[in-house]
Amino acid sequence: MSEGISKQLVLPKGRGFGLKDGVLDKDAFRKVIPVLAAQVPAEKAGILLKAPALKRSLIDVAKVKSVARGPNQDRLVLLKFTNEADLPPEALSFLHSESAELVSHELSFDYDYWSTDEVIHAILPEELEAGAPSGFAAVGHIAHLNLRPEYLPYKHVIGQIVLDKNPTIRTVVNKLDNISTQFRVFSMELLAGEPDFVVTQSENDCRFTFDFREVYWNSRLHTEHERLIHKFDKDDLVADVFAGVGPFAIPAAKKGCAVLANDLNPSSHKYLTLNIAENRVGTFVRPFCEDGREFIRRAFNRAWDDPLAPVPLPKISRSEQKEIRAGQRPAPAPGPRRNRIGHFVMNLPDTAILFLDAFRGVLSRANTDGRDLSGLYDENSMPMVHTHCFTRELEPEKAEVDIRQRVEEKLGHPPGEDTTYHWVRSVAPQKEMYCVSFRLPPGVAFGS
Ligand SMILES: C[S@@+](CC[C@H](N)C(=O)[O-])C[C@H]1O[C@@H](n2cnc3c(N)ncnc32)[C@H](O)[C@@H]1O
Repeated sequence: MSEGISKQLVLPKGRGFGLKDGVLDKDAFRKVIPVLAAQVPAEKAGILLKAPALKRSLIDVAKVKSVARGPNQDRLVLLKFTNEADLPPEALSFLHSESAELVSHELSFDYDYWSTDEVIHAILPEELEAGAPSGFAAVGHIAHLNLRPEYLPYKHVIGQIVLDKNPTIRTVVNKLDNISTQFRVFSMELLAGEPDFVVTQSENDCRFTFDFREVYWNSRLHTEHERLIHKFDKDDLVADVFAGVGPFAIPAAKKGCAVLANDLNPSSHKYLTLNIAENRVGTFVRPFCEDGREFIRRAFNRAWDDPLAPVPLPKISRSEQKEIRAGQRPAPAPGPRRNRIGHFVMNLPDTAILFLDAFRGVLSRANTDGRDLSGLYDENSMPMVHTHCFTRELEPEKAEVDIRQRVEEKLGHPPGEDTTYHWVRSVAPQKEMYCVSFRLPPGVAFGS
C-alpha cells in the first residue's frame, strides 16, 4: 500500500542518520522501493488513471508521478501495492479487461527527494532533534542562519543541506553576534557555498545591491518601508537621516519624491550611490555621508540653497506628443524645484530619539546663517518627523507614554496631539519596535 511506501520514505529522526565521520553521506539516503505497475500502450494510460475501479489502487506518494515510461513506448501506471495478492478484486478484473500486464517497477529515491527540514532532523542526534533549526532568512543569494550554540558542531553540515536544497541560494552564513555596532552590521561566518557577500535584493520594485557583511539590511522591514513610502506624496521632499543603502529613499524617488539621503557608514554610502544609479533616480536623490545630527542641521539650508528637481512630468501619450508638436496643445511645463522638506525619516531605532535635539533651533537664523525660512515653514507646513525606536513596554498605551516622554525630553517640547505611534514589530521577547510620527513643532525649530 502507498501508506506503506510513504512510511518507508520517512527518514529516521534524531538518529545521526546520513553522517559519516561528521560529514554528510548522501549515499545513505538512496532508497529503492519495488511497486506493482500496470503496463499498457501509451494511449491507454489515461483510461486507467480515470477508472473508478483503480481509484484506490493508484500510487499516491508525494513527488512521485503516477505514470512512468515502460518498454516499447508503453506506459507503466504505478500502483500502491507491491504484491498482486493485495490488489482489490475489482481493480484486478478491470486490469484484465483492459489487457494490462502487471509488472514489477522500482522507485528510486535519493538525497534530493527529502526537504531541508527532513534531512536536518535526520542527521541530528536525539537530544538536538526537537529544537532543530528550521528555515532561514534569505538576502539575495545568501541564506542567513542564526544557529544556537548547541548546533554549532553541525553548522557546516546544516549549511551544506540548506545550500543543496535551495536552488536560489549560493552562499550560507551564520550570524556570529548581536547587532551592536554603530553601523548595525553583524559579523558572520561562511558555512557553505561561495564566499560572495555582494547581493542583489528586490524590494518595492527597486533593486538593491550591497555587501551583506558591511551594511545594514533587514528584509523584515519591507512592510515598514512600504508603509512610510505610501505616506509620502509624489511632490514631497524627503530627508532620510539614516538611509542605509536606500530602501526608503530609492522607492520614494521612483514615486516622484525628491530625497536627501544620508548614511554615516562609508560602505552604505557607496552602495546607496550605486543603487541610485542602478535604479535611475539620480535626478531625484542626493546622497550624503555624515553624522545624522549634522545632516539634520544642514538639510534645511541645503534644500533652500540648492533646491531639488521638480516633480517629474506625467508621461504623455504618442498622440499627445503629436498634438504638442503640431502646436495644438501646450507642452507640459515642469513645476518649481523643491526646497521645502516635507518628511524626515529616522530609522536607527536604538538611538534615533537621541538625535531629535538636532531639531532644536534648526530653523533659527543662527543655524540658517541669517536666512529667513519662516515663509516656507509654518505651523501646517512643518515637516513630519518619523522616528523609529525600541521600547521595553509591551502594552501599546505604556509604550506610547514611554516613547512620548523620551521624544519630549529630547525636543524640549511635547510632540503634538496628532502624533501617531505605529507598532512595527517585536524584535525580541521584551523589545518592541515603533515608529513615532509627529509634525516638528515650530517652537522647537525656530526656537533659540
Ligand atoms: C537600522 S539601519 C536603517 C537603514 C535603512 N534606513 C533601512 O531601513 O534599512 C540604520 C542606519 O543608520 C546608519 N547610522 C548609524 N549611525 C549613524 C549616524 N550617527 N549618522 C548617520 N547614519 C548612521 C547605519 O550605518 C545604518 O545604515
